[in-house]
Amino acid sequence: MTEQELRNQIVQQARSLFMRGYSSGSAGNISVRLDNGFLITPTNSSFGRLEPERLSLLDPQGRHRDGDKPSKEWVVHRAMYRARSLAGAVVHLHAPNCMAVACLGGLDPESVLPPLTPYFVMRIGRLPLVPYFRPGDPDLAEAVGRRAIDTHAMLLAHHGMIVCERDLAAAVNAAEELEETARLFLMVRDRPYGQLTRSQVAELERLFPKSI
Ligand code: 13P
Repeated sequence: MTEQELRNQIVQQARSLFMRGYSSGSAGNISVRLDNGFLITPTNSSFGRLEPERLSLLDPQGRHRDGDKPSKEWVVHRAMYRARSLAGAVVHLHAPNCMAVACLGGLDPESVLPPLTPYFVMRIGRLPLVPYFRPGDPDLAEAVGRRAIDTHAMLLAHHGMIVCERDLAAAVNAAEELEETARLFLMVRDRPYGQLTRSQVAELERLFPKSI
């Protein structure tokens, strides 16, 4: 895809997420990796009203090259790209069901959500919890970068979720699947729910290996 097509794709995907309640106010940010750095949504911008030519262009080190002032989370996005060389896009959302789970006590930081459904296993797999840091904190970027070495998706305590994938369409699909699984978890967690067995999870991992 050309840079212009990627800019248009960010605007379209963000608007679709906004219209369906995955992002409200000016929460969340999206980035796409380019040969010469990455494009990221501007700080304090609404996913419903982005403009392709105003997206922020950063070089690989994170220096601002063009467009509006970048998201304060640019440093977290850079950490994901540095940890995962195949990552082509990063999506960070404050989606309500993920946010609710991220505010619960007693979570297992190594694996927040159980394998309730095949698509959670296929699109997300194990979901670790990153401890709370304020948005944009370099320590958040360091914690995410460390976790990203062995996972492409994580929950951020009291903050939301972040996922990366090979391209933006795949990253949005993964983010939506994660939000749906969080919603499902909140529905069943006070009931005697079952989960996929180890061998059922292993079969999915074998037949549908992660793309990055
Ligand atoms: P920005 O407006 O700086 O992108 O921050 C929004 C956000 O989601 C912080 O976590």
